Amino acid sequence: PIIMTQSKFTHKDNLKYPFEERGLQFGDGIYEVIRIYHGTYYLLEAHVDRLFRSAEAIKIQLPFNKEEVTSQLLELLEKNKMKTDGKLYLQVTRGSAPRDHVFPAEIMPNIYAYVQDQPRNLEGMENGVKTITHRDHRWDYCYIKSLNLLPNVLAKQTAKENGCYEAILHKDGTVTECSSSNAYMVKDGKVYTHPATNNILHGCVRMAIERFTKEMNIPFIEEAFSIEDISLADEIFLSSSTSEITPIVKVDHIQIANGKPGQITRQLQTAYEVDAN
Ligand code: PDD
Repeated sequence: PIIMTQSKFTHKDNLKYPFEERGLQFGDGIYEVIRIYHGTYYLLEAHVDRLFRSAEAIKIQLPFNKEEVTSQLLELLEKNKMKTDGKLYLQVTRGSAPRDHVFPAEIMPNIYAYVQDQPRNLEGMENGVKTITHRDHRWDYCYIKSLNLLPNVLAKQTAKENGCYEAILHKDGTVTECSSSNAYMVKDGKVYTHPATNNILHGCVRMAIERFTKEMNIPFIEEAFSIEDISLADEIFLSSSTSEITPIVKVDHIQIANGKPGQITRQLQTAYEVDAN
């Protein structure tokens, strides 16, 4: 596999990181994950926009503009002769320097990106997945796609250990999002999801879902729902670049409606399918 770095394209085995690297030592960096279908990026522009918002939020000056990084990412696909369903991972850290919490002067960001195969989770999207609920004890800036993912990693691991696909995170009973996806409830024909505040990542698929609901005349209500609301929900689903739109049929010990993916979730999945092709 060929990877992209700040200066050139190179084979992945040529990538060397110094031991004092701020991404490794402080989690001082940001990232993006972009879906690839048949060798083409999906929602590329929205991801590039978010990359720039994340960089600005943590005061990293990116050494390229949006057009430049976009054309480099396209070139990366070509260099890897990517034709399948996959994903791109792009990471930017503040750089390498002797360890010091304060930003070192004159530091240059370390950047790399790679593409790899990522088959679609057809089984989960068809039958729905089980989730747990988990306290959201992350920080106040969850809109930044930061490398600090320990709370997300631990929540998702707990889900896995309980035979579940995801963890639905809540702050004092209010659902924010999931450990690596956004969360939605359908009630009386309306889609509810946490508003795009500092407490959630503003998902690119979430933006696409908002657009689909507008086209389908389904109310998209940016109002948080609670853990208690879940037991009375008609449908629950999640979204992310890797999971697309996945129905949730069980939350802890509560079965959602009849335990089958709901109708609005299905309609949104169909709209996604059309949009991504
Ligand atoms: N996760 N919320 C969180 C906490 C996420 O980590 C993600 C994405 C999302 C959905 O964002 P988007 O629709 O832009 O993919 C929401 C990626 C896929 C990851 O970390 O692997």
